[in-house]
Amino acid sequence: MSESARIPSRDLPPGAVRRAGRWAVGNDDGELFAVSPRCRHQLADMSTGTIDADGCLVCPWHQSRYDVRTGAMVSGPRGFLGYHGPTPGYTQLVLGYGRYLKLRVRRVLRRGDDVVVE
Ligand code: FES
Repeated sequence: MSESARIPSRDLPPGAVRRAGRWAVGNDDGELFAVSPRCRHQLADMSTGTIDADGCLVCPWHQSRYDVRTGAMVSGPRGFLGYHGPTPGYTQLVLGYGRYLKLRVRRVLRRGDDVVVE
């Protein structure tokens, strides 16, 4: 069974992140990406995240940052559970495994009026 998913291109303007099937898809100023949707920290839905100035996908809960080309975490969380703030040692601990336990990455392209995750 194919895992491909699609959404209309008009629903993914520059700067947007959305859900397409089982994937979080984003548009970083025209560069499309698709990654698995669960943050490696505490499983937040990355399709409700944001894209920062460096083109990283930022988790909506504790702001872990991911390289969307590799799926690797590049900055650890700023908090845990309902706490949001500095947690230096904990942040480094999570970053340590987030660099290796990457988000899955899929190829994504425009096809007609749609964005398709292959
Ligand atoms: S759930 Fe993503 S940083 Fe905490």
